[in-house]
Amino acid sequence: MVRRATAAILDRWRPRRYTAAVTLRWIDEALATLSRAGLLREPSPPIVAAGPYVERGGRRYLNLCSNDYLSLARRDARGPAGAGASRLIVGDTVEHRTLEGALAEWLGVESVLLFSSGYAANVGAISALVGPEDLVVSDALNHASIIDGCRLSRARVEVVGHRDVAAFDAALARPARRKLVVTDGYFSMDGTRAPVGALAEVCRRHEAMFHVDEAHGFGVWGPHGRGVCAEANVVPDIWMGTLGKAFGASGAFIAGRRSLTTWLWNRARSFVFSTGLAPASATAALAALPVIREGAQTAALHANVRVLRDALGSRADGEGPIVPIVIGDPARTVAISRELFERGLFAQAIRPPTVPAGTSRLRITVQAGHEPVDLARAGALIKEAVG
Ligand SMILES: Cc1ncc(COP(=O)(O)O)c(C=O)c1O
Repeated sequence: MVRRATAAILDRWRPRRYTAAVTLRWIDEALATLSRAGLLREPSPPIVAAGPYVERGGRRYLNLCSNDYLSLARRDARGPAGAGASRLIVGDTVEHRTLEGALAEWLGVESVLLFSSGYAANVGAISALVGPEDLVVSDALNHASIIDGCRLSRARVEVVGHRDVAAFDAALARPARRKLVVTDGYFSMDGTRAPVGALAEVCRRHEAMFHVDEAHGFGVWGPHGRGVCAEANVVPDIWMGTLGKAFGASGAFIAGRRSLTTWLWNRARSFVFSTGLAPASATAALAALPVIREGAQTAALHANVRVLRDALGSRADGEGPIVPIVIGDPARTVAISRELFERGLFAQAIRPPTVPAGTSRLRITVQAGHEPVDLARAGALIKEAVG
């Protein structure tokens, strides 16, 4: 009880930098244009349950617009399994709204919008925010979903060196209708953290929108697991996270201003034209949030990280629970991975195109639930195998 009260006192997250006021102003105008044309779509009260009959706003309806043909999504004690339709049709359930509200409160933002995956969130958001007249500046090691979002947007894309703030700055000097800077927060294959404080400052100077993918940052870094950005006291304009990693469920979200999520509700095609996140996943993620906030699991994770990194010594690159062991040659990497597998270690070989040519690697990830003794043994075995 006392511990919970202390956590509540410490949990005063007052973000300092919030660049969205200027950079997302165009969305207000775009939404007003949609509204004047009678095309603005806004969420109505959510649906309670799924199935042939649903409840909305206290009234029961015969559900005539779901794709739940066999009526298998309906509510059991744990809530509906699937949404049965896009959120815009009849797939917008109380489970979605409850999780969105809890995530918004946790991050101190106005609004959160759930997506069915992190891939869908990045592709949908980037292609909804920029187009052919715009400029995107993207870190060379960004995740494939960011790269694909940039391609789909047809914006001019400048790929700059990993974590090279000066290169971001220089690339943003080009004229464009809108500018977007996009980066992973904690890089999934490299275990490096983006310089989000410096990048937020660069974005502010160039009036660029700032999109940070915290797929691997939330739950791992920052006060109460709020990620790499919160650690730097930054709230990016587009703050993306996934539910399939530290949350142990599946799905993803974008956090930010309400105008941003309203725009994505209308224009992110991977959201509009896709079945809503499974309510069962939303319920699972909601159960994980207090654990992330409380922090003991994250502390246990970092204690385990120290054990593995100590055992690996200089063979371990990056920082935190993502530990790349770069081998270089793909065949040798696969051979080492197989050898470790024989000895009881599951350490998948990562090869191009997931990582750049010549940098095939073992990507080791630490969990809070690992036994330290096993991590120490794993570190010794990996060192021996890699040489
Ligand atoms: C940095 C990053 N962004 C996005 C994704 C995609 O997330 P999801 O697996 O939920 O599609 C991943 C996961 O592979 C990732 O590592």
